[in-house]
Amino acid sequence: MTKLTIFVFLSILFSSSSYSWPNRTHIDDFLQCLTHKMKNSNSISQVIHTPKNSSYSDLFNSFFSDNQRINSNFKPSIIFTPTKESQIKAAIHCSKMHDLQIRIRSGGHDHEGLSYTSDTPFFIIDLRNLRSISIDTRKKTAWVQAGATIGELYYRIAERSKKLAFPAGVCPNVGVGGHFSGGGYGMLARKFGIAADNVIDAKLIDANGRIQDRESMGEDHFWAIRGGGGTSFGLIISYKIKLVDIPEKVTVFNVTRMLEQNATHLVYKWQHIADKVDDSLLLRLFLRSNISSPFKRGQRSIHAIFFTLFVGGVDELLREMQNIFPELELRKEDCVEMSWIESIIFFYIGYPKGTSPDVLLNWNTTTKKRLYFKLKSDYVQHPISIKGIEGIWKLYNKLGENAGAELQFSPYGGKLSEIAESETPFPHRAGNKFIIEYAAFWVKMENSKKSIEWSRKTYRYMGKYVSKSPRAAYFNYRDVDLGVNNINGNTSYEQARIWGVKYFKNNFDRLVKIKTKIDPTNFFRNEQSIPPLLS
Ligand SMILES: Cc1cc2nc3c(=O)[nH]c(=O)nc-3n(C[C@H](O)[C@H](O)[C@H](O)COP(=O)(O)OP(=O)(O)OC[C@H]3O[C@@H](n4cnc5c(N)ncnc54)[C@H](O)[C@@H]3O)c2cc1C
Ligand SMILES: *[C@@H]1O[C@H](CO)[C@@H](O)[C@H](O)[C@H]1NC(C)=O
Ligand SMILES: *[C@@H]1O[C@H](CO)[C@@H](O)[C@H](O)[C@H]1NC(C)=O
Ligand SMILES: *[C@@H]1O[C@H](CO)[C@@H](O)[C@H](O)[C@H]1NC(C)=O
Ligand SMILES: *[C@@H]1O[C@H](CO)[C@@H](O)[C@H](O)[C@H]1NC(C)=O
Ligand SMILES: *[C@@H]1O[C@H](CO)[C@@H](O)[C@H](O)[C@H]1NC(C)=O
Ligand SMILES: *[C@@H]1O[C@H](CO)[C@@H](O)[C@H](O)[C@H]1NC(C)=O
Ligand SMILES: *[C@@H]1O[C@H](CO)[C@@H](O)[C@H](O)[C@H]1NC(C)=O
Repeated sequence: MTKLTIFVFLSILFSSSSYSWPNRTHIDDFLQCLTHKMKNSNSISQVIHTPKNSSYSDLFNSFFSDNQRINSNFKPSIIFTPTKESQIKAAIHCSKMHDLQIRIRSGGHDHEGLSYTSDTPFFIIDLRNLRSISIDTRKKTAWVQAGATIGELYYRIAERSKKLAFPAGVCPNVGVGGHFSGGGYGMLARKFGIAADNVIDAKLIDANGRIQDRESMGEDHFWAIRGGGGTSFGLIISYKIKLVDIPEKVTVFNVTRMLEQNATHLVYKWQHIADKVDDSLLLRLFLRSNISSPFKRGQRSIHAIFFTLFVGGVDELLREMQNIFPELELRKEDCVEMSWIESIIFFYIGYPKGTSPDVLLNWNTTTKKRLYFKLKSDYVQHPISIKGIEGIWKLYNKLGENAGAELQFSPYGGKLSEIAESETPFPHRAGNKFIIEYAAFWVKMENSKKSIEWSRKTYRYMGKYVSKSPRAAYFNYRDVDLGVNNINGNTSYEQARIWGVKYFKNNFDRLVKIKTKIDPTNFFRNEQSIPPLLS
């Protein structure tokens, strides 16, 4: 078990009373520095939130709305919500002067909470006020600031044009800053690649506090921030992206098959076709065991949910499905034609049918539903046998009380396979059939230990069916079980390589080289950032 996970456990056991604040003098010096540096800034009173401000606890609590499991030793000494680049530069300067670590937060969806927790004294630069989006429909490009959510981006694109779109993730509340820098897979990935494949320029603040764009940072640095992960290579202020052409109508469906409806064979067959079908078709598969079933041992119901976007009309889709996957018995009435922006609403489980796309602008509504979850990932290169699939069903029956699980099978192939492994740091290209995301979720803190153990047991079980040497994982599905850096001391290259090659394969070494060149003192860091080589 890793250090971080152990303390996640301890924190769960001892509850939030274990939080502490670091040495006051240290923080006061930092605060003084920041105030001094910003003395000419009129918004200063609105952007610095210390534990004495009532705004602090609202902000702090909002960080945990997505994953209750996350906890940490320290509370942030300051939550800083800059409105201008100059303020960020000031914070970076003072962070260096007074050795107070930074956590950068855009959308806050980091699976392990690394954007807002730390077991070392720290402050947060929260980019919620940097969320502007400007779209050029003629050039089919956009500049989007890191603090915007992908839902807002989608909304603004659709507002300007019904024939343009952008290929990024499904959950609308994910932030641009973390999502694009770590990859960005969504329903258009087989046709247009991941978000990072469609980034054409960027603006960031480097470890020396300088603002850089693609031209001034150079191609190596620009390469690193398109899949090499946020944090390691500077604070990203904005990305320039290339928009893609989309027809005015796309087609979607969501059909469910239970075990009694031959789900096992359908899942088996799906593996043979999902990465090979027309690029316009993305057939996602969710294997879900419901959370509210009666919890009789061995009695869990299993749903295989086929979740699909087709960039085209319903008739063409039905023809394609009849050709490649007749066993699913898809009917015309299962399919709905809609605009791309409506499909964003359709695919996000949080929105009931008929929800207006306007909801995509409500990024700051805190959810009342409190959930704990643990996620892991794997890549599959050869179909899992029927016996292997049946083993997964058996594992579902070993879930603890008040706990559920979902395995998401997301197909690769198409455009994803056409791009070379070294083109961006995101290396999961040709040869991968699909990615599995393992999600264990539960509703009560006391179920934590058992559910986390379940996710690890499932991961062990899957070992023989998935990619090997390295057993690859997707950086944006961050998992600290894969290994972590020693955040206060010096992380050796060998230590980081353990998790690094899983996320980045052969690109890890290039990332280390770039890091060594642009941030040799490891100023920008967290438990899974790329370490510089020590000279
Ligand atoms: C509910 C949910 C749904 C998801 N759906 C998808 C999906 O469909 N497809 C997919 O590919 N992924 C998905 N993810 C994973 C998601 O892409 C990653 O968690 C991503 O890193 C989140 O970005 P963020 O800005 O919201 O998170 P944050 O927690 O703010 O940031 C994530 C990491 O990036 C760093 N970072 C953030 N902003 C910056 C910046 N401006 N400059 C430098 N570093 C920065 C943070 O410090 C942190 O280390 C999902 C996650 C969740 C929780
Ligand atoms: C607190 O920090 C100050 C300044 O950084 C330092 O001089 C002092 O020794 C620290 N005190 C403790 C108890 O760590
Ligand atoms: C926090 O409190 C300080 C001191 O009372 C005040 O000057 C500042 O405006 C407050 N900040 C916010 C964001 O409310
Ligand atoms: C389930 O699917 C398999 C493979 O397509 C097929 O051979 C079998 O007859 C199906 N069983 C049922 C009950 O439909
Ligand atoms: C979960 O499965 C059980 C058993 O099949 C069923 O009775 C129940 O309605 C399901 N619950 C949900 C929320 O789907
Ligand atoms: C897809 O269908 C299943 C089963 O009917 C349902 O539980 C699920 O919520 C649907 N998904 C979405 C995103 O609507
Ligand atoms: C969300 O943002 C809107 C617009 O900025 C604001 O009016 C509203 O009060 C915010 N809601 C919350 C819960 O912060
Ligand atoms: C890290 O390594 C450098 C160079 O070898 C050394 O100067 C420094 O003291 C080390 N820091 C820690 C915390 O071990």
